Amino acid sequence: MGSNTIHDIKIDDIKNAVIEVKNINDNYYNKTGDRKRYLIYTFGCQMNEHDTEIISGILEEMGYEHANSAKESDIIIFNTCSVREHAENRVLGRISQLKPLKNTKPDLIIGICGCMMQEENMKNYVLNHYPYIDLIFGTHNIHELPILINKVLQSNSAVCDVWEENNDIIENLPVIRKDKVKAYVNIMYGCNNFCSYCIVPYVRGRERSREPEDIIGEIKSLAEDGYKEVTLLGQNVNSYGHGLKTKIDFPDLLYMINEIDGIERIRFTTSHPKDLSDKLIYAMRDCQKVCEHIHLPVQSGSNQILRLMNRHYTKENYLELVDKLRSNIPGIAITTDIIVGFPGETDADFMETMDLVRKAEFDLAYTFIYSIRVGTKAAQMENQIPENIKHERLDKLIELQNSISYEKNSNLVNNIEPVLVEEISKKDPNKLSGRTRTNKLVHFEGDRSLIGNFVNVKITEARAYTLIGEIEAKQ
Ligand code: SAH
Ligand code: SF4
Ligand code: F3S
Repeated sequence: MGSNTIHDIKIDDIKNAVIEVKNINDNYYNKTGDRKRYLIYTFGCQMNEHDTEIISGILEEMGYEHANSAKESDIIIFNTCSVREHAENRVLGRISQLKPLKNTKPDLIIGICGCMMQEENMKNYVLNHYPYIDLIFGTHNIHELPILINKVLQSNSAVCDVWEENNDIIENLPVIRKDKVKAYVNIMYGCNNFCSYCIVPYVRGRERSREPEDIIGEIKSLAEDGYKEVTLLGQNVNSYGHGLKTKIDFPDLLYMINEIDGIERIRFTTSHPKDLSDKLIYAMRDCQKVCEHIHLPVQSGSNQILRLMNRHYTKENYLELVDKLRSNIPGIAITTDIIVGFPGETDADFMETMDLVRKAEFDLAYTFIYSIRVGTKAAQMENQIPENIKHERLDKLIELQNSISYEKNSNLVNNIEPVLVEEISKKDPNKLSGRTRTNKLVHFEGDRSLIGNFVNVKITEARAYTLIGEIEAKQ
């Protein structure tokens, strides 16, 4: 951890809380032969998935063990997402379902954290409507968790602590990673872009970058632990480095990571089109380990809507970028995010989006119905689009994109692709699954001992979202 105090929290107070909670949990174990157990439900993006890995690390440091079900848990934490109303409703529904369990097991600690708790209204709603919640914290004070849990255990009353901001980056928090082959590495936090529809800048705070030494140190130790792939995380990785003492930008960072022995694949997400430089395209081309895939959210194909969204590029700029990426990085997969039904989106605007999708030929698009987020600029705009029209547009867009995705994947049939074997296939327990460098999921038969290794897979069949293949020969 950088400084000795953060927001009046002393590092020693955190360490002492870890020891106190661990003592309580160890005493319980000595008496009963059983461990206190935890479960975390995670919603939202990779940032949240990685935060969950840190929360797991902190809980395990305090002597909690992972639970397989809510029923056998002593502490359950919801790590929430507020990007769309649907995500929020799912969280609230799940919390309601836990009420009967809490009634039969009053010592169960139920906690909520993550982006939803950074919204003042939502935090108050939860406090008022779910009196059986024991613990609330936010995205800026995860490191404070030992103190908060200790308070819940000592006082037996609800504890709520959410920080509005945190300018410090807390290094060296414990982490239990879900995966043994690929790892998430934060390179920056927060977002300064304020796209007019988006809640993220309000719940994740201002943009701040991690020091390159800290990032490189973490990745080197991942390589020592046998990890083969890293995904660098940031809301807008292209603005990495702003505000750091070291004069460094994102392409520089890629060149540095490319030198780390043991790491074979480098991915990153997300890139904002307005900041995608030629230097980055050349770094992707020249760094052998940087994979041929970019996630480049376009959001809309209409210049009028892009302007209202505060995106700072046009449809033409975006298509130029696509051309430049394809001509410099042969075979690159381009994926995107698209919102339909933004306020004021006319049929003609939507047709522009359909046209862009046809021209850009995305490998995959994550498509969303615009969801009003209180506090954002777009929430106040006139001409909100009726639900039925939003759904009609979404259906048309998905149909078009599915046919393009299928077409793109079909072009790979008979190719031999190097695949990093990740796990037993979730679709078929007799198969393995892994990804191509272009981030396409492939299912194939093979021995589970291959997990964590590279194999050459001949693609035999294409679907819109996945590929089927056979192992050719071990590399
Ligand atoms: N920083 C990333 C991810 C942001 S959230 C980025 O800029 O791409 C992921 C996606 O959710 C966004 O790209 C956008 O397509 C979608 N999204 C964000 N706010 C939304 C809203 N209010 N309604 C619908 N979709 C939204
Ligand atoms: Fe949201 Fe825009 Fe920031 Fe992405 S870049 S997190 S869409 S405000
Ligand atoms: Fe959701 Fe927060 Fe990520 S709002 S998309 S979990 S940054």
